[in-house]
Amino acid sequence: MNEKQRLESQQAQRPKDSKVEKDYSKYFQSVYMPPSLKDARRRGREEVKYHDDFKIDTRYQGMGDGRKFYIRTYGCQMNEHDTEVMAGIFLSLGYEPTETVEDADVILLNTCAIRENAENKVFGELGHLKSLKLEKPDLLLGVCGCMAQQESVVNRILQKHQFVDMIFGTHNIHRLPEILSEAYMAKEMVVEVWSKEGDVIENLPKVRAGKIKGWVNIMYGCDKFCTYCIVPYTRGKERSRRPEDIIQEVRQLAAHGYQEITLLGQNVNAYGKDFEDIEYRLGDLMDDLRKVNIPRIRFTTSHPRDFDDHLIEVLAKKGNLAEHIHLPVQSGSSDILKIMGRKYTREQYLELVRKIKAAIPDVSLTTDIIVGFPNETDEQFEETMSLYKEVGFETAYTFIYSPREGTPAAKMQDNVSMEVKRERLQRLNDLVNEYSRKAMESFEGQTLEVLVEGESKNNPEILSGYTRKNKLVNFRGPKSAIGKLVMVKIKKAKTWTLDGEMVDISESVEVI
Ligand code: SAH
Ligand code: SF4
Ligand code: F3S
Repeated sequence: MNEKQRLESQQAQRPKDSKVEKDYSKYFQSVYMPPSLKDARRRGREEVKYHDDFKIDTRYQGMGDGRKFYIRTYGCQMNEHDTEVMAGIFLSLGYEPTETVEDADVILLNTCAIRENAENKVFGELGHLKSLKLEKPDLLLGVCGCMAQQESVVNRILQKHQFVDMIFGTHNIHRLPEILSEAYMAKEMVVEVWSKEGDVIENLPKVRAGKIKGWVNIMYGCDKFCTYCIVPYTRGKERSRRPEDIIQEVRQLAAHGYQEITLLGQNVNAYGKDFEDIEYRLGDLMDDLRKVNIPRIRFTTSHPRDFDDHLIEVLAKKGNLAEHIHLPVQSGSSDILKIMGRKYTREQYLELVRKIKAAIPDVSLTTDIIVGFPNETDEQFEETMSLYKEVGFETAYTFIYSPREGTPAAKMQDNVSMEVKRERLQRLNDLVNEYSRKAMESFEGQTLEVLVEGESKNNPEILSGYTRKNKLVNFRGPKSAIGKLVMVKIKKAKTWTLDGEMVDISESVEVI
């Protein structure tokens, strides 16, 4: 199905049976395409098509002349990278970027739906922006990203935030020119959210936020459907980019002087599963990228279930493949993992860790953990604590479970009080801090390779950068070191950062 057919079919199907449309039809006229979580759930068998013919229609060229845009990004790296694409489209349309909302003619909130507090932040921000919009009626205000893929959010904006001019989702950011043009003309809110993913569009313009580290999407979407998670609904089914497109993008970044690449996907270990014509998985991709002349390559996020032996074998070859793996475990209890739909047990996770450590003895493992999943018992929580110690994670992102409307877990009865959940989170965080400090202390006295990113936020005389294991290091050094790999002797460890001294620049790693 091409883009036009998809639009037509969604337009034809959706509004007829849509309660939303009945309720709010007076607010829109032109493009009105609301999201449906039910439709988003369905995984079609249609083949993914790859396009590399994106171009800005002549009708829209110059639309942004004399205008400025501002994008505020919430959520994960995927969203950060989508913002880079939208910024690229804005520039192609003639807009200029601005750092302040007051100065902007178009403001986009690129939102995240992963937990309730992520959504609350956006609704809070909309409250602030309302007064700006009243002062400046010509200002265009848009909500995009994962929240826009949810019916309940779109309904709430239609009801309570009518000053918003446009809502569009994660699948149609390449339609930004059309959506903007529509919003300039329409008196009503423009809503264009595709419930189902589109094809893969290869040559979208991008304005990367940094010149030292870059993100490269290797796949989109997620088919795992963990019972608590909204992502499979907001990002659609798993679609992998073709290896040659990824390798070419990494090569180009290397040629432009980028020193580090993070490969992105919600579940990068499923990379290639959807290819019908070739047998090519993440291990193969990493093996090919190992040969590209760029100092560091990482990936995020890994699902333990699809982490295969070939990948471990390739990562063990190291070179430019960083010895840091973020491997979300979510819980240390097999019973909870089962209800979460993670499709592995505590024992299987520990076995995977054992294999990784055997192949890469100095690997740094980090993780994500959810506490207070519905009906989690004290014993089950203790299993998470003991697993944390057993693996010896270097650090973790920890969260209190947040029910997401439309997911199976949101329908579960929950007998755990918020007070208990908070206590568990506190205990877990104490453990995380203890282990992080321990890991950091183990670097004292070592000389580590640091990719220098810039001046430290608080003191311009101090430079900061990251090690291969992604530890933040602060040290004194010349500005000429920014963007380079240097060797730093670690003098003092703090819980989250390391202080060091740069080793004589002549001894530093030469950047090729
Ligand atoms: N694809 C990644 C996770 C992306 S979301 C993976 O599977 O590893 C990032 C993290 O947010 C998850 O690992 C999980 O720990 C957390 N998370 C997701 N949904 C959540 C929810 N409903 N409540 C609390 N935390 C959640
Ligand atoms: Fe969400 Fe699970 Fe997919 Fe991660 S793997 S994005 S937690 S459904
Ligand atoms: Fe949030 Fe969407 Fe990322 S829900 S975590 S921005 S994929």
